[in-house]
Amino acid sequence: MAARYGAGRGIAAAVREAEGLTGGIAAAVREAEGLTVVMPRAEADGLGLSYDFVGAWVTLQVHSSLEAVGLTAAVSAALTDAGISCNVLAGLHHDHLLVPVAGAERALEVLRKLAADSGRIRPAAGLVLRSERPADRPAILALTAAAFAVSPVAGLPAEGEPEEVELVRGLWDCGEYLPGFSIVAELDGEIVGHVISTRGRVGELELLGLGPIGVLPRLQRHGVGSALMQETVARADAAGESGIALLGDPAYYARFGFVTAASRGVEPPDPAWGGYFQLLPLAAWPGGVSGTFSYAGPFTGR
Ligand SMILES: CC(C)(COP(=O)(O)OP(=O)(O)OC[C@H]1O[C@@H](n2cnc3c(N)ncnc32)[C@H](O)[C@@H]1OP(=O)(O)O)[C@@H](O)C(=O)NCCC(=O)NCCS
Repeated sequence: MAARYGAGRGIAAAVREAEGLTGGIAAAVREAEGLTVVMPRAEADGLGLSYDFVGAWVTLQVHSSLEAVGLTAAVSAALTDAGISCNVLAGLHHDHLLVPVAGAERALEVLRKLAADSGRIRPAAGLVLRSERPADRPAILALTAAAFAVSPVAGLPAEGEPEEVELVRGLWDCGEYLPGFSIVAELDGEIVGHVISTRGRVGELELLGLGPIGVLPRLQRHGVGSALMQETVARADAAGESGIALLGDPAYYARFGFVTAASRGVEPPDPAWGGYFQLLPLAAWPGGVSGTFSYAGPFTGR
């Protein structure tokens, strides 16, 4: 993500009571109480309009279809952390920020740092993340077979169909299947990644059990897996889920905030998994949890 300071129209003013204006409007919001417009300050001054907010206009050079992976939320959070208020305007092609003029340079510093930090996990441009549809299933199975053709555990080619393919089939058919948590990543109409999370439990506490997650081998390391992880986390938080458990390499999942599950009182179904069994406690995490995690039936052949 890159931030550009829109030099030509860098200073905008929010003008109220603007009925009848035609030219120079960069954004407008119509409410029952009246019309608010954002326009270049010089133009507002030229028209003799009064205004109560003067801000710097910052354009985020990220296609707005990536909104789904939570970039706007990340930008807002980073600016809020830095004590800078911002007003987000979502256009078809880009998101734009109005920040107080006094905080503009600092806002750009914050955005540059955010861009540098997230560059490693920047999703491929044009990536669409959405819930799976019935017609996607053959492509999901094919990509799962390709992603797991070499076992991530053993590092050896799978013999025959990788077991994750049958696992995904089983998860679709089991009682713990959650349609909103079977998410595909689509690029130019092709399903290039998939992640599924199903209902898991620690005693009475409901959690999500994430996996398998797979990305087409030719597109691995382009941020698709990260985008699927971030989408899962965003959906889980929005749905009030308490946490997400998974088995995987901490070197990968720590970047999304996962910690050793046992450190939060959640023991792996197989003690041998040790630190590879990880947990992301979400906003609704209750604390004081103690017990062993149980996955959806198909993970244990039930
Ligand atoms: C694991 C997987 C889903 C990650 O998706 P991806 O799109 O390739 O990953 P991203 O591009 O978002 O992230 C790439 C980063 O993750 C790291 N990474 C990827 N897989 C990793 C793994 N298994 N362990 C540790 N790090 C891993 C890469 O080294 C890279 O790190 P870097 O940016 O520091 O170089 C994908 O590589 C895949 O399908 N692998 C085969 C199937 C698999 O192993 N699934 C997970 C089983 S737990």
